Amino acid sequence: MVDINNAVMASKRVFIIVICGTFAYLQIQIMNMTTDLRSDTFTKPSKGMLEAMWAAEVGDDVFGEDPTVNKLEQKTADTFGMEAGLYCPSGTMTNQTAIKILTQPLQEVICDVQAHIYKYETGGMAFNSGVTARLIDGDRGRLSPQDILNHINAENVHFAPTSLVALENTSNRGGGSYYTLYQMKEINELVRNNDLKLHLDGARIFNALAETGDSPEDVGKLFDTISVCFSKGLGAPVGSVLLSSKENINKARRIRKVFGGGMRQAGFMAAAALYALDNNIERLKEDHKRAKQIEATLKELTYIENVLPVDTNIIIFELNRSLSNKDFLGKLAQHHIKALSTSNQTIRFVTHLDFTDEMLGDLVKVLKGM
Ligand SMILES: Cc1ncc(COP(=O)(O)O)c(C=O)c1O
Repeated sequence: MVDINNAVMASKRVFIIVICGTFAYLQIQIMNMTTDLRSDTFTKPSKGMLEAMWAAEVGDDVFGEDPTVNKLEQKTADTFGMEAGLYCPSGTMTNQTAIKILTQPLQEVICDVQAHIYKYETGGMAFNSGVTARLIDGDRGRLSPQDILNHINAENVHFAPTSLVALENTSNRGGGSYYTLYQMKEINELVRNNDLKLHLDGARIFNALAETGDSPEDVGKLFDTISVCFSKGLGAPVGSVLLSSKENINKARRIRKVFGGGMRQAGFMAAAALYALDNNIERLKEDHKRAKQIEATLKELTYIENVLPVDTNIIIFELNRSLSNKDFLGKLAQHHIKALSTSNQTIRFVTHLDFTDEMLGDLVKVLKGM
């Protein structure tokens, strides 16, 4: 009798374990099936990247003794023909560190009204560097030399001295718009003639270069500092490198420390970035091609009011009044597709290395079926 009861209990337990296991498995499958187009920051490290991270040789980077971090910093600097690099946990930190080393409190920084350094870094430039932003409503996030010239403050005790111009290439809020080398050269000339400094938020600089065909070395010649992110289209889980002269990077190292960004065995993460440099740049054009296919689909749909020109991997579009953002996102969610609401009627898709042709086909079907 006792044995039968035990057997019943045991089989119940097995049954519950099997049900729970199946449920967990299905949950994981559903999560894996999700097409996440909110940002290119949602990518997960590939098998090859994880293997590179696993195999990384590491040390204490605050002591400058992590060989993989050192290699990444030098390799990124060499790629852009710049003297030195500094590995930081985020693009926000590389941008804020650049502003800190290139300005003095009470000075002014010229940037686009949509610039990440102004709009999405929590007012960091005022807090960290004591500077104000002089905003220009540019062309989809891009500034022209004339715009900049018009906003340089005259020498006057009432005005904050203009000291820095910051560009973003590609422009996130501008829908992935990019500068050509020629446009950046013109800005460089103006900046030098006016004794200013020039920073590039190059979170997606490789997306821009994939389209223009310009070389990173030519870009490197134009800027005092460049921030290059590995956790966007390049698919690494974390990290950005700030590039500049050796002298500036020495200063930046101290700023990174005071910002709390000194990491220890960061080589595991740097290995992912090195892997990305070697493997994930050439393929960026695939993301751009898929983004353009989405653009073409959106332009055919009656519930779409407007689509910003798609230049790289970011698609920003406006819904007409027949469909709210909430309903649109809700319908996508029914098909395990995620997108980002960027303002009232505006939605953003960003293509990336975890977004395949198969997912593109499904997305197009869902969009056409709405
Ligand atoms: C243009 C641009 N700059 C900087 C950043 C900041 O990068 P992080 O999220 O690593 O701080 C982002 C993030 O998306 C970005 O799009």
